[in-house]
Amino acid sequence: MLEKDFIPKPYTNLVENGSFIWSSPSNIALVKYWGKKAQQIPENPSISFTLDNCKTTTKLSFTKRESDNNFSFEVFLDDEKKDDFKPKIETFFRRIEVYLPFLKDYHFKIETSNTFPHSSGIASSASGMSALALCLMSIEKELISSYGTSNTMEESHFIQKASFLARLGSGSACRSLEGDLVVWGKHDDIKGSSDLFGIKYPYEVHANFKNYQDTILLVDKGEKQVSSTIGHNLMHGHPFAQERFKQANNNLTDLVDILKDGDLNKFVALVESEALTLHAMMMTSMPYFILMKPNTLEIINKIWGYRKRSGSKVCFTLDAGANVHVLYPENEATKVLEFIKNELVAYCQNGQYICDIIGLGANKL
Ligand code: DP6
Repeated sequence: MLEKDFIPKPYTNLVENGSFIWSSPSNIALVKYWGKKAQQIPENPSISFTLDNCKTTTKLSFTKRESDNNFSFEVFLDDEKKDDFKPKIETFFRRIEVYLPFLKDYHFKIETSNTFPHSSGIASSASGMSALALCLMSIEKELISSYGTSNTMEESHFIQKASFLARLGSGSACRSLEGDLVVWGKHDDIKGSSDLFGIKYPYEVHANFKNYQDTILLVDKGEKQVSSTIGHNLMHGHPFAQERFKQANNNLTDLVDILKDGDLNKFVALVESEALTLHAMMMTSMPYFILMKPNTLEIINKIWGYRKRSGSKVCFTLDAGANVHVLYPENEATKVLEFIKNELVAYCQNGQYICDIIGLGANKL
């Protein structure tokens, strides 16, 4: 698929109004996306677990209007008007207009809510942008079906284009559409992988990874210290960039075997190394940042101590912030949760944490 394949033929008939509701999850990367080229093309392929509890639900209502040169929309979070969300959505609309030429023909009301606390430091851009992309695709599907019965949209095209659009809103959002493990970015060993959209991981996954658990420890619920866009840009001219991109490719190659064999020791080593490398990239960029907090390190050390004394396969991963994702297999759920409550919750802001599990992707409501 090429970018031009996502440009639809002209719509013959614009529906007057309507609304769609989609719920879409967040995801947590195992091999991280960090660094991008123009048009939201990643410097390296990445893979993530789709989460099940951390979701955004978006209702998109649309009313036909006299089209002009502007986009017309309003945004609400939990019924409250959010004008500060508008610039990001305006940029998104501008990037996708060529692929959804109806955007200026409607006024949109975007009503959104998250299942996780808004200021939790959990990125809502992946779930938010994917939910919005799906709502927009539902409109396109309706416009295309109004051509006549021979013009129904294939389900696979619907999801693929939704992922393609979501990527243009936020890179990691293209990994939040469909599948429990999702790959984004061209990789020679992964059939069908593309820089343009995420795909369901196409190979065998060992039962050890079934219902994998992710407990998100909220260490710092403040606003992100560095926006991901700024963070990605720091990889331009970064002294270690090329090696890092090579390493991500190699890690994905290794992960294919790990996922097949169910080797949790190798999984732990690869996932933790990826997390620390992401932070190492930020510490060694110019300007440089430390996004971990003292409690992030306390938690990491506690996890290492627990693993050593218990033989557990629990491990951590990090986003571009201080919160810690604690990952562990389902058969350890009771014990690890006990450990988390006894030893880790004390390092969370207001003792807050979120229990999650691998999920299957977005849902139409
Ligand atoms: C550290 O997808 O938020 O979470 O494309 O600029 O919106 P933009 O960036 P974003 O970056 C996420 C980076 C990460 C790693 C990952 O999810 O792979």
